[in-house]
Amino acid sequence: MIFRQLYEELSSTYTYLLACEDSREAVLIDPVYPTVERDLHIINSLGLKLVYSLDTHIHADHITSARRLKELTGSQIVYPVTSQCDCPDVRAEEGKAIVVGSITIDPIYTPGHTDDHYAYKIGNKVLTGDALLIDGCGRTDFQNGSAEDLYKTVREKLFSLPDETLVYPAHDYNHRHVSSIAQEKERNPRLGGNTNIEEFKKTMANLNLDYPKFIDHAVPGNRLCGVCPKDLPDKYDQYCQEMSASPQG
Ligand SMILES: [Fe+2]
Repeated sequence: MIFRQLYEELSSTYTYLLACEDSREAVLIDPVYPTVERDLHIINSLGLKLVYSLDTHIHADHITSARRLKELTGSQIVYPVTSQCDCPDVRAEEGKAIVVGSITIDPIYTPGHTDDHYAYKIGNKVLTGDALLIDGCGRTDFQNGSAEDLYKTVREKLFSLPDETLVYPAHDYNHRHVSSIAQEKERNPRLGGNTNIEEFKKTMANLNLDYPKFIDHAVPGNRLCGVCPKDLPDKYDQYCQEMSASPQG
């Protein structure tokens, strides 16, 4: 399997490229609007054909490039079945694997950061989106987030994966790249060790994070699979290209 971890610096988002070495079919997970040309350049230079874009959830901090990728390459848009919108071509659902050449992607429903959130497991890797971050987790204060749900998602679902499973998050704000289930179980300061649900709920209630700068535009744009807001013509580029100060965890 070809595997690349790509970085979008304005929103500190990791986009993942997966491809089958035999069929040359490729998938992008959590692609971001401003890096669409970069991502397509990498896909073309590796001699790959993009067949799907997958999003882990309706993002609040950036616009997905799912729709743009479909326009440019004919790729199909995959969203969680729980994301209530009409634009996806395929709905990711727990128990229904997405197969791309020799690659099997297993969707895992992981609510808490948002109520539509899915993680994607591929062999010994799990792409945890904003549910589980390295030494952290996604915030739970918007989009029907729930600290209680996130605790169960991480402790009961993700932490039950084999210890050696590699954890690839959708964001890192400190230049870290990969972790493992064993590492997060041992040292995640919010969810690891013996942390109980009441302690976690208290931690999440006291984060005092700023209101996400782009949430009021990003969420409707992502419900349309990646449309920049038409009501802000002067800021069209700026909105779609500048997404700093919108921390997700
Ligand atoms: Fe998010």
